[in-house]
Order: sequence, then structure tokens, then C-alpha cells
Amino acid sequence: MANNDKLTTSVQTAVPADAKSINIFALPDSYFADPTPWFKKLRDEDPIHQNADGSLLLTRYGDVKALWRDLTGLVDKREQFERRFGNGPVFQHHTSGMLFRDPPAHDRLRHIVNPFFTQSSIERLSAYIDTRVDELLANATEMRELDFVKDFAFGLPISVICRILGVPNEDGYYLHTLGAKILFVLNPHVSQDDIDAGHAATTQFMDYLRPFIHLARARPDLDPTDNIISAMVYAEKQGDEISEDEILHMCILMLNGGHETTTNLMGVGLNGLLDHPDQISRWRDQPELLPFAIEELIRFVSPLQLQGRRTTREVKVPSGVIPADTEVVISPAAANRDERVFDNPDGLDIGRKPNAHLAFGAGIHVCIGRPLARLEASIALPKILKHFSRIERSGTPEFNRNARFRGLARLPVRLEP
Ligand code: HEM
Repeated sequence: MANNDKLTTSVQTAVPADAKSINIFALPDSYFADPTPWFKKLRDEDPIHQNADGSLLLTRYGDVKALWRDLTGLVDKREQFERRFGNGPVFQHHTSGMLFRDPPAHDRLRHIVNPFFTQSSIERLSAYIDTRVDELLANATEMRELDFVKDFAFGLPISVICRILGVPNEDGYYLHTLGAKILFVLNPHVSQDDIDAGHAATTQFMDYLRPFIHLARARPDLDPTDNIISAMVYAEKQGDEISEDEILHMCILMLNGGHETTTNLMGVGLNGLLDHPDQISRWRDQPELLPFAIEELIRFVSPLQLQGRRTTREVKVPSGVIPADTEVVISPAAANRDERVFDNPDGLDIGRKPNAHLAFGAGIHVCIGRPLARLEASIALPKILKHFSRIERSGTPEFNRNARFRGLARLPVRLEP
């Protein structure tokens, strides 16, 4: 279910002989199973690591935070992406949504979708999320042995984001398969086949969405609060500056952002809990730890592991100076395991306080969906722990080979009510 199911690897515990020589363009299998030893070596020995293409990789908390918060960092990757992808649909996608747009375009687009992600809008989804979790639990109870990723973790975020967007839940899996191909090309190293698949998937996704946009345009009673498609079409009708291509690419961005990371949070999160059975017992005994437990899982999993920026001027970070006009890869996943900030960072402590993790980013692009991710996990995970007295792995978990969106492709579990 996670990105690019064709490429999976079983859990291994190999520790790299020389993590300093990490090449993000040729990552070994063991990295995908557990990147933490690489992150530690980089943080300790090479915090401003130069990648093979001349870009820099930052792994220390202080450096990642400083760079992320620096408002002069650019996300527009037109030049770089055109060289990598050619001027096709997947290039258009990754340069049109707000995630890869700088102000003022970023702010104009974020302003249109923001009302769907305020704390109060998200709280109104609680009843729907509750019902959806109960359906998934009933199905899991019947199955007893299941793939937690495919049969549970995937089902919740995809239905919630389909609802917010305004497309049928039944199309969720189809849209996920397209979205995974579109996102996969953002990995440091991808083949021409992957890029071609990304172009084709973007075209299919846009073709799928157009009829919904045309329908919304034709509605005389269009209500912008109904869903994101209605809000964007309404903005277009009001004469706000938003093009049809921007509407389409924003929809794809919202669908992708809204499910892959949260699915991985729950899949890798449950796997982490199974590695720390004491934390499962503690959670059962102290349900009031819920908000801390969720933040800890978000820190521990860090579903978005790598992100990019380009500096527009020299930027000082605690470990040194990043020159102007430099491509920088920042790793929130490595930052969230920095022992300079977190005690026992590779341990899972569901009562951890303080926990100022960077999993949702910082600065103007800070994750718009963070209240939603938190709410989904806060409803689903305690219900699972309450509903099943025994949860155990029934096979080997398989991690995907996706360095940016790290997740489990498969987590076989056996559940006892
Ligand atoms: C645990 C789950 C999630 C994690 C770890 C996560 C992580 C992130 C991070 C790190 C960023 C900042 C990227 C940057 O600065 O370049 C981001 C942005 C974004 N996220 Fe999330 N996200 C999660 C869930 C969601 C959900 C549920 C949605 C729902 C729509 C969402 C939609 C977005 C969007 C649209 C952006 C771009 C914001 C902008 O450019 O202004 N994310 N996310």
C-alpha cells in the first residue's frame, strides 16, 4: 500500500560501516529498513554533508530548524525539475501546487484551502472519523489476521481526504495508486521508467478530476464550504486568481499530502509500539497520555523524512554557513532523533515532554494538515488498543524503498479481541 509496492525490503538491522560516505542517490537496502544509524553518523561526523550532485544534506535538529524557518529559502524547483523530468505533466504538478510555490503564489493558494484545516473545521470531522474507524475495526475483527497497512491504516486517511476534497471514497484506492507514482519521482534517485509513470499518472489524475470541476462550475448554488473543489471553483468564480491547472494540481497535492503520510504514521507507529510492548501497556494503563503518545509517534516515525530548499542568500545555521544559491536537503527524520535535543532519541516514550519535533516542518509551508493527522491517529490508535487485547506480528514487516515518504508496504498482524 505504501509508495511503489513493487519495491520492498524486509527489516534488517545492518549498521553501515561508513555512514559518512552516504550517497542519497544510491541508498542500500538496509537504509530503507532503518536509516537511523546513517542519520546518527551524519549528525556526529558530517552535519553539513555534501551530496554527489553538490547539494547539502542537513541532519542536526538546530540546522534543520534554522534552515526551515529561514524565510528566504525557496521551494520553487522549476529549473531543477525540468532538467530531471522534462516539461511534462509530473513537472507541471510539482511546480504548480502550493508546496512548491514561493510567495505570493503560495499564500494565495493556501488562503483558499486554509478554512478546511482550522482546528474547528477538523473537529467537525470527528464523528465521521469515529464511524470510519469502527467500520475498519469491525472488518479487522472479522479478519483476525491481516495486513495492518492495507486493511486498516490506509482506509482511514484516504476516506477522510476524499471527503474533504469532494470525490467518492470508492475511488480512493485508484487515486492512491496514481498519487504514489506522482510522489515517487521526488526521491533522490529514480529511473526514466519511474518518471514516465509519474507523467502518465498525473495525466490520469487530472482527467479524473476535470468532470468534478466542470460540475462545480455549473452549480448555481455552489457552496465554498462544502469541499475543497467547491472552494477553489468558487474562488475562480469570484475572480480570485486561480487557474484550472492550479485547481487540478492543488487537488492532487491535497489528496497525496492527506493520506500517504498519515497511513505511514499509523503503520510504522504500530510497528514501533510492537517493538516497545511496555509502551503499549503504559498507554492502556494511562489513556490520559494520548496527546503525548501521538506526538511521540509522529516524532518517532517522521513520515516525511527528507525535504528540499534552495537558499537565496548565505544562511548561518548552528553547524556552519550555507552559501547563497545552494540546494539543501533537510532531514526532519534525522533531526527528530538528535540526541542534542531528545533524551534517548531512538527510544519510544509515549509520555515524552517536551517534544518539539520537526515532523510537520516549520515556517510558511508548515503542514496544513497537522490537526487532521493528529485527530485521525488520536481516534484510531486508542480504539485499536482498547478493542484488541492482543496485537502481534504474524510475519515480517516490509518497508517501502522510499527515502522521502518512509513507510511500511506490509505489516502482517494477528489480532485477538
Ligand atoms: C503525520 C502526517 C503528516 C506529516 C508528517 C506531514 C508533514 C508535512 C511537512 C513536513 C510539510 C512541510 C513541507 C515543506 O516545508 O516543504 C507538510 C506540508 C503539507 N502538508 Fe503535511 N504532513 C502530514 C499530514 C498531512 C495531511 C493529513 C494533510 C492533509 C491535506 C497534509 C497536507 C499538506 C500540504 C498541502 C502541505 C503543503 C503546505 C504548504 O506548502 O503551505 N499533510 N506536511
